[in-house]
Amino acid sequence: MKAAILTALNTDLEVRDDVGLGDLGPGDVHVKIISSGVCHSDVSAQNGTIPCGTPCVLGHEGAGIVQEVGAGVADIAAGDHVILSFVPACNQCGPCLRGQSYLCDQSMTVAMSPHFTLDGNPIGGFTGVGTFAEELIISEHCLVKVDNDIPLDIVSLVGCGVTTGVGAAINTAEVTPGSSVVVFGCGGVGISAIQGARIAGAAEILAVDMVEGKLEQAKHFGATHVCTPDAFEQMKGEITANQGFDYALECIGNPVTIRATFDAARRGGTAVIVGVGRMDQKIEFTAFELFYMDKILRGSMYGSSNVRTFMPKLLRLWKAGKLDLESMISRRIQLEDINDAFQAMQDGKVIRSVIDFS
Ligand SMILES: NC(=O)c1ccc[n+]([C@@H]2O[C@H](COP(=O)([O-])OP(=O)(O)OC[C@H]3O[C@@H](n4cnc5c(N)ncnc54)[C@H](O)[C@@H]3O)[C@@H](O)[C@H]2O)c1
Ligand SMILES: [Zn+2]
Ligand SMILES: [Zn+2]
Repeated sequence: MKAAILTALNTDLEVRDDVGLGDLGPGDVHVKIISSGVCHSDVSAQNGTIPCGTPCVLGHEGAGIVQEVGAGVADIAAGDHVILSFVPACNQCGPCLRGQSYLCDQSMTVAMSPHFTLDGNPIGGFTGVGTFAEELIISEHCLVKVDNDIPLDIVSLVGCGVTTGVGAAINTAEVTPGSSVVVFGCGGVGISAIQGARIAGAAEILAVDMVEGKLEQAKHFGATHVCTPDAFEQMKGEITANQGFDYALECIGNPVTIRATFDAARRGGTAVIVGVGRMDQKIEFTAFELFYMDKILRGSMYGSSNVRTFMPKLLRLWKAGKLDLESMISRRIQLEDINDAFQAMQDGKVIRSVIDFS
């Protein structure tokens, strides 16, 4: 079968048609991928920002149809439509039991389990998934069943960017009605955060991006104000009377904008870091400001989302016309176009490219 493989850091993905599948073990499920979004984290695996062994099948934002289930799988059957969750929800570990499945202890085990083969050797998928492939084998803990009547291209977006962004606003920041929000970065994750803030009832939502075209699009999804980074201080002054925002969300993954996000929150406000920076990048805070500003600084893994309840909720919001997923698909592509899609994302030309495997 076909799959797009990262063979070495900082090289183009290689689309091979001779990739094999590993064995269907107990608790595993064989899924045919129908649609996969391209997320910045895939680019971050390619350039080494997110550690990832090579060779590796990239892609972690996908949806598909179950073909076969391994021994002991009771809740999923052939024909089911599923979202691939890049964090498992095992329902047994400490984090899962305390209601934080997005921190599931099984994450590393799943990420380190190779379920593809290449040239006779086992190879892994990014984060244990690998949706840039026509088929994959994955733990049942990484699957969320969805209604079979929802188009799978729409469903695939929920696999990462939408759950992460909407979740960051609703679950992590806990945006309240009438509040002020700033979102830095208007890619798939940032646009979703803007939609989450809108759904939560924020009064003002400022979208900040360095690409002008992204700002026009941000308005469509609910931004009430938009600006490029150079105009940010002035906009902050106008919107918040220089107090700062109730909630500030970073959806880029850059230490400079992470620091700016902390600064953008008002005293007593909340700064949420969604973007993923490199492991060796540092951000400075003075010892004084951390106490004095009384801010909440929170990371956001997968939008602090318990996927089994939050993903179906997002699709109900979509069905009710309250979450616009169609307009987030900027381009529909084939797997062979993957390197162009990586470039388009880095050039700020797309919200999401979606690979059509059907
Ligand atoms: N926390 C999580 O669980 C999680 C999940 C998915 C993605 N992510 C991360 O979220 C981030 C965003 O992902 P995405 O898919 O939306 O990426 P993207 O590339 O589609 O969007 C990033 C946006 O930021 C803008 N931008 C870049 N540098 C900027 C700057 N200095 N100032 C203003 N705007 C700038 C770009 O123009 C672009 O519109 C990435 O770091 C990704 O790895 C985190
Ligand atoms: Zn992602
Ligand atoms: Zn768990």
